[in-house]
Amino acid sequence: MAAAGGTLKVSVWRGVETGRFQDYEVPRRESQTVLDVVTHIQRAIDPTLAYRFACRVGMCGSCAMNVNGRARWTCRTHVDKVAADGRLEIAPLSNLPVVRDLVTDMVPFFDKWAKAHGRFEGTRTRRDDFERVPPSSPARRQADAGIECIGCGVCYSACDVVSWNPAYLGPAALNRAWTLVNDARDTANRARLAAVAGDAGCHACHTHMSCSERCPKQIAPTAAIAGLKRAAMAAALRGDLGDE
Ligand code: SF4
Ligand code: SF4
Ligand code: FES
Repeated sequence: MAAAGGTLKVSVWRGVETGRFQDYEVPRRESQTVLDVVTHIQRAIDPTLAYRFACRVGMCGSCAMNVNGRARWTCRTHVDKVAADGRLEIAPLSNLPVVRDLVTDMVPFFDKWAKAHGRFEGTRTRRDDFERVPPSSPARRQADAGIECIGCGVCYSACDVVSWNPAYLGPAALNRAWTLVNDARDTANRARLAAVAGDAGCHACHTHMSCSERCPKQIAPTAAIAGLKRAAMAAALRGDLGDE
């Protein structure tokens, strides 16, 4: 990686729910990502800094942090795009408990996927042939629109309704539910729609769009939630909302 020259002034959250920002100076380099900056601090300046990453190529979803006040995946966020003035403030994601420094506890986030009935329930066994779903079918297209979610938590961190109502299932879990509602092989939609139709479900979304604006995979949870609202309403009118 060639040196671009200059120094970045970086403030990094240190602590748990209480703590403070600590300042570091990091050499600026060409094609440098925010994750590169955090890694430099941990490897060259302060080995006690806690942060999380795995793939470095935008697939695992583990590296998300708040960068200059906005949730982002840090391995695909170039410093040049977010720190034109040479300053970075890096903090843990919002709306999740902080384990330490830049590491958040993702358990509440994934618990909500379970509450939204976000697991596939089919009927085939490993001895059966694959079920074929036509790529051009409208339901398949709806499912495809949300299937690439990497579970990074950026949308969840950006959602004001999660901040106001910690019980709210949030955009990622609801996007997952909508993906499964449109999966022709799945058999659990009655229970799934009941799970997302409650007070903390899709009807709590205020359609502020932050989730769709921030998702690094260009997924639109807002559209998924609108679909869930329609499907849950139709199921209610049919008297077809099963037990969670
Ligand atoms: S559109 Fe709904 S889920 Fe998305 S950020 Fe806004 S309130 Fe949250
Ligand atoms: S919907 Fe987008 S922002 Fe939300 S968890 Fe999935 S990939 Fe991340
Ligand atoms: S490290 Fe895997 S998505 Fe960033």
